[in-house]
Amino acid sequence: MRCYEIAAGSTSLEGLKRAERPDPRPSAREVLVRVRACSLNYRDQAVVTGNYFGGSVQRNTIPLSDGAGEVVAIGPAVTRFQVGDRVAGTFFQTWIDGPPRRAPALGSPLDGMLAEYVALDEDGVVPIASTLSYEEAACLPCAGVTAWHALASGKRLLPGDVVLAIGTGGVAMLAVQIASAMGARVVVTSSSDEKIARAKAIGAFGGVNYRTRPDWADGVLELTGGRGADHVVELGGAGTLAQSFKALAMSGEINLIGVLAGHQGDTGPHALMLKGGNMRGIFVGSAAMATDLNRAIDANGIKPVIGKTFGFDEARAAWEYALSPALFGKVVITV
Ligand SMILES: NC(=O)c1ccc[n+]([C@@H]2O[C@H](COP(=O)([O-])OP(=O)(O)OC[C@H]3O[C@@H](n4cnc5c(N)ncnc54)[C@H](OP(=O)(O)O)[C@@H]3O)[C@@H](O)[C@H]2O)c1
Repeated sequence: MRCYEIAAGSTSLEGLKRAERPDPRPSAREVLVRVRACSLNYRDQAVVTGNYFGGSVQRNTIPLSDGAGEVVAIGPAVTRFQVGDRVAGTFFQTWIDGPPRRAPALGSPLDGMLAEYVALDEDGVVPIASTLSYEEAACLPCAGVTAWHALASGKRLLPGDVVLAIGTGGVAMLAVQIASAMGARVVVTSSSDEKIARAKAIGAFGGVNYRTRPDWADGVLELTGGRGADHVVELGGAGTLAQSFKALAMSGEINLIGVLAGHQGDTGPHALMLKGGNMRGIFVGSAAMATDLNRAIDANGIKPVIGKTFGFDEARAAWEYALSPALFGKVVITV
């Protein structure tokens, strides 16, 4: 079968290579999926450059955690799926339900989805929303489940709450769509007024340009009549945390997710104390969350925002595009 690999020890996009592997055969509890589409996440930049959790991949590894396709064969012990089912892999292959657990993830350290076929344990796939194309469904396993985890668990989200999402990438745009469906008013930050307008077109209530207004928390407070954000989808990390603390409503919750603004910051934790606030870490989510998300997507008619779609031969261009200022929402590769 055709696939891509990230070469062992890779430290740059040069390490992304076309490869051929034997077609996988499903073992007793596995389903064989003909992958139709994959999506990129910011993490996939870190994997190819050797910066994901501090190191390069140790062996040639098929990249990408996120992909969707059709079940074309099942092992004899599979009970939950049959040939023809439309499924997506789960980011963590063995986090089925319940509280966070350390589990191996697709795309590093496990082989990922950028291949014609993958064989996955039946517990490591979920049915995809019936209203989504494979391209749209491929946007959800990492970015969508992370946004869902942040918004649908933890501090209860009430209609009318304010949600703040950082940037206009994959997680942020899914957060806009999910939180809007839950009745929240979502404010985004962006380096681009044009992207803020696009975010508003898919449901955001307002936006603040963090490039022209480095003290963007003031903009969030202005937009919300001084209330601030009840829930922050914190995708910037240490580099945006000081502003997120400032933009936080009393008793608000920060969902610490990303590192877009780097690993260094200039704030201490006491801003949370003064606001009675809370901060919790989010690391993608479970198969149960993925299932709940797909149900919500169907029920609310949510269509993940695909910024650009690339063909299988254009994987390298997809990686480059995902780092470019043009990025909005998700980047998809068809298989
Ligand atoms: N913890 C987890 O489980 C988890 C899961 C998924 C993602 N993440 C992390 O969450 C972050 C977002 O992931 P993603 O896949 O959604 O990324 P993405 O799609 O690549 O998003 C990129 C966007 O982020 C914005 N951005 C870039 N640098 C920024 C900065 N310095 N300050 C504010 N915004 C900035 C930009 O928006 P504008 O162009 O509008 O400025 C850019 O278009 C990443 O750090 C990723 O590693 C973590």
